[in-house]
Amino acid sequence: GIELGKLLANTGYTTLDGGFVNTASTKSAITYIDGAEGILRYRGYPIEQLAEKSSFIEVSYLLIYGELPTTEQLDAFTDRIRRHTLLHEDLKRFFDGFPRNAHPMPVVSSAVNALSAYYQDSLDPDDPEQVELSTIRLLAKLPTIAAYAYKKSVGQPFLYPDNSKSYVENFLRMTFGFPAEPYEADPELVKALDMLLILHADHEQNCSTSTVRLVGSSDANLFTSISGGINALWGPLHGGANQAVLEMLYRIQGEGGDSADFLNRVKNKEAGVKLMGFGHRVYKNYDPRAAIVRKTAHSILEKLGSGDELLDIAMKLEEVALNDDYFVERKLYPNVDFYTGLIYRAMGFPERMFTVLFALGRLPGWIAHWQEMHQDPNGKIGRPRQIYTGYTERAYEGIDGRS
Ligand code: ACO
Repeated sequence: GIELGKLLANTGYTTLDGGFVNTASTKSAITYIDGAEGILRYRGYPIEQLAEKSSFIEVSYLLIYGELPTTEQLDAFTDRIRRHTLLHEDLKRFFDGFPRNAHPMPVVSSAVNALSAYYQDSLDPDDPEQVELSTIRLLAKLPTIAAYAYKKSVGQPFLYPDNSKSYVENFLRMTFGFPAEPYEADPELVKALDMLLILHADHEQNCSTSTVRLVGSSDANLFTSISGGINALWGPLHGGANQAVLEMLYRIQGEGGDSADFLNRVKNKEAGVKLMGFGHRVYKNYDPRAAIVRKTAHSILEKLGSGDELLDIAMKLEEVALNDDYFVERKLYPNVDFYTGLIYRAMGFPERMFTVLFALGRLPGWIAHWQEMHQDPNGKIGRPRQIYTGYTERAYEGIDGRS
């Protein structure tokens, strides 16, 4: 690509690209996407192979360190994460201050931001050891924070992490378990959730990752930058789409289950009627993550005994939309979030937790991008320009002279 910005700097010309549709904000060696071909690779490895063969912790290592780990490296990484899963006891009380009916996303992003106050020994963005420690802390503590946000919302006691369990098992136990009661997660469910986290682990310069980079570009610490990313992810056009998809399916079900009628209303651009879980800024062919989830959605839903009416509505929507010129012309295909909500629901998560699960998955990607940005010797603070459209100069009028 041409570094147009550099060429134009100081010439008086400014490029305007609303929504950054064609503007690269950075060079990056982490994730490759070919939107036309439906290709997604982390550090060169195809998403299909990682989803089938790898684990979320291994993918986290790959994204952050750039290479797949040896057994020794993976064991050391896993062990380190295990040793940091506890939250400071005072931070536990932080959750008490939120109303019980709060959406978990602001609770989670606030708690992540609060890590900057509790772990002041790992805030220096220029000290590699501190960055590594805050990286481990984030990976270790986000599942605990997410589970506590859930427990708070259902009025149940918090469970301390059980570090004899795997990353995903531990999270499921803290979420669905009860103190002093054994909790055994279904291995198929653990595997499915681990795979979904892998699929969400990175997606180059999406809205939340760009936010993490922009916040971090001011040399703000890693915790605070990630908290910014969690907030950006909450929006229904980004990570909040998985919750919005399920709400849409409920709505269609409530209105009699007529998918074709709903699609007509989408085509007529009726206010508030959008086909959530369809369309993507970059994928204009298909979303390779959606193809992977689609394959597993049926078997998981069957296994969990939730192959219900909502799935039928979703399948019908997909079938009709994929054969309708309106959606075909606009290159609108299901994205990863079209299916994930149904799976999360079958696993027992309430809709409000769906976007939190996305955040758990995206965390290593955010961290990898934040680190890549800090390691760039030519890194600069992010500071876009604008095209001013307001008044030219006006003289101040005293209040008595205004009409
Ligand atoms: N439903 C109906 N029409 C749509 C949709 C949709 N989901 N998405 C795009 N379109 C239409 C637009 O109305 C527009 O039509 P027009 O040319 O007649 O005006 C055309 O398709 C192009 O759409 P844009 O808005 O230019 O596409 P953009 O790249 O800006 O938007 C986005 C991408 C935000 C993902 C959009 O497709 C959308 O809102 N989808 C629904 C929300 C969603 O599922 N988000 C998850 C994204 S994936 C992720 O975060 C993991």
